[in-house]
Amino acid sequence: MYLGVDYYPDYWPEELMEEDLDGIVGLGANMVRIGEFAWHRMEPVDGQFDFSFFDGVIRKLKSKGLAVMFGTPTATFPAWLAKKHPSVLSKDEYGRPRAFGGRRQYCFNSAEYRRYAARITAKLVRHYRDESAIVAWQVDNEFGHEGSDMCYCEQCHTAFQRFLERKFEGDIGALNETYGTIFWGQTYNRFDEIPIPTATITTHNPALRLDWARFRSYSLNSFAKEMAAIVRENKGAHQTVTTNVSGGFFDKWFDHAEQAEAFDFMSYDNYPVWGGLAEPITPAHIALGHDFNRGLKDKNFWIVEELMGAQGHDVIGYLPRPGQAKMWSMQAFAHGCTDMLYFCWRAMNRGAEQFCMGIVDHDNRRGSKYEEVRAVFREITPYGEALQSEIRSDIAVLYDYDNIWSWRIQRQSEAFDFTKELLRLYTPFHSLNCHIDVIPATRDFSKYKVLLVPALQIIDRELGERLARFASEGGTVVFSFRTGIRDRDNNLHFGMEMPGYVADMCGLTIHAGEALANGRREPIVSADSTTSGVCEVWRDLLRPTTAETLYRHDSVFFPEAAVTRNVYGNGVVYYIGGGVDSDILNEIARSIVKTRQIWHIESEPGVEVYARNAGNKQIWFVLNHTDKVRTFKGRRLEPYASFVVPAEEI
Ligand code: GLA
Ligand code: ZN
Repeated sequence: MYLGVDYYPDYWPEELMEEDLDGIVGLGANMVRIGEFAWHRMEPVDGQFDFSFFDGVIRKLKSKGLAVMFGTPTATFPAWLAKKHPSVLSKDEYGRPRAFGGRRQYCFNSAEYRRYAARITAKLVRHYRDESAIVAWQVDNEFGHEGSDMCYCEQCHTAFQRFLERKFEGDIGALNETYGTIFWGQTYNRFDEIPIPTATITTHNPALRLDWARFRSYSLNSFAKEMAAIVRENKGAHQTVTTNVSGGFFDKWFDHAEQAEAFDFMSYDNYPVWGGLAEPITPAHIALGHDFNRGLKDKNFWIVEELMGAQGHDVIGYLPRPGQAKMWSMQAFAHGCTDMLYFCWRAMNRGAEQFCMGIVDHDNRRGSKYEEVRAVFREITPYGEALQSEIRSDIAVLYDYDNIWSWRIQRQSEAFDFTKELLRLYTPFHSLNCHIDVIPATRDFSKYKVLLVPALQIIDRELGERLARFASEGGTVVFSFRTGIRDRDNNLHFGMEMPGYVADMCGLTIHAGEALANGRREPIVSADSTTSGVCEVWRDLLRPTTAETLYRHDSVFFPEAAVTRNVYGNGVVYYIGGGVDSDILNEIARSIVKTRQIWHIESEPGVEVYARNAGNKQIWFVLNHTDKVRTFKGRRLEPYASFVVPAEEI
């Protein structure tokens, strides 16, 4: 088990290193991550490589017994490269080159960039292939983050046209037919006539825009895979390869699960709060991040950037309360993190991240945050073996990046946000402290008892049949709104009653739908008129065929069903026909976990309890996410308290 910090010796006078490393060892740390932004330090002039500084750093780290994760530095290329080869700079949708000065402002389709990135990566990894202290390589840094997944340059345009020519096997007629380019007279005679969806009047063709999203994912992932392959072919056998996933993973233009195939394990940067946020994201939203990363390879993961201090570039975020960052750390371990590095030992007092605070502030004193990290390392170390255990879940959330991109291309409702709609189904089960996997819809989901399927528009025949088989064989499926309306090309199904290939298993057809934007919330009422609720974002008007109506729209014009339940074969299928409120979804979740006998445990609002196997015993992570005193099983939980306890002791 590795525990440690992100350390930037290249930012500080060398005479600070001894004191820094003693402080890091004093935490109980045994690893540091270095180097992910240090390209210029290792190649100060084109083609002249100098690893002597990091040779000295690694000697020093080894003398302190610290292992190393080394970051390949392709997220921040040197100024001389941008000057010599401006084609490496990515371009925004107005064709403007992104200025040198931030980070990741490179184009994935720049041949020059790939050549230079490949060279520094190979040189670096080969130089340290026999270095026993370096046990892991991190490729680049947070691929696609901060808008770097999108580029509209000429190289990307040409590459996109080639991408389409391959996809349609050179048949421009097939592309026209698939896209429906007859509409608005957009028929193409040649692939080199096809635009990239830069700013235009009104909007581009939805099928083209989905292929453009797929091309962005292909561009980014092919770069990531090329770099990972270079690390793999040059590294030592004792060294592993990972990359670090940033937050906002559903807001990116690349398929993370596809990229994860290139890595030995995935690493995550856990920031429950960032920038100008007045409050952290919800406990369920934080937990979703861990469950998503665990699902990428169906495997436990590392955290290589765990928040300890307030974060922000130009605007600073919320200051974690005493114990709160420790509680977030323990939550990460609960959900499958096996090894953790904090960001960072000390915030840099110059440069763009002066306000991205670490364990030690600019006073260079070891204060309360230092003690908080020591407490985490002290408390978690006894459970190192238990953290390696597999997390088994009866519940899985299904997602599909094509579908997410389709929603980003056409939001349909101004209020739509995919992550919010996924959390609408996820949170009620998280509140019951159930284990939940978050996996691609392409994965085999037959082992689960319950599938949560948020806003899945794109359902083709194959997926429809798999979902129907899952339900008929006894599974429970919870769909939400706009389900099944599209085919794989991002076009609306024609000649089928919605929800298309899953209409039969849902036991209903959809009469029509309406966007509920700008805060509109429409009333719904239970079939027996005893309880009411609201619907926001969108409402589907459901006409049951075999389904039971649980709630209907409380509207004179639209008396159709809003929430239904259908017995299908040996299973049950719920359809949540809109952005239905949590009271109703909590009631449905509770009914499902009880009838399906899914492990769950009651806890006060804001208290999260996560059970892990430790050999033939169970340990419970108990987390108070609130600023209030709470109790759990008679134990008093101070605000933001967190602890691990053998289940039999509580
Ligand atoms: C991200 C990056 C780090 C740093 C931190 C600051 O996770 O990976 O380089 O920018 O955020 O919070
Ligand atoms: Zn480009």
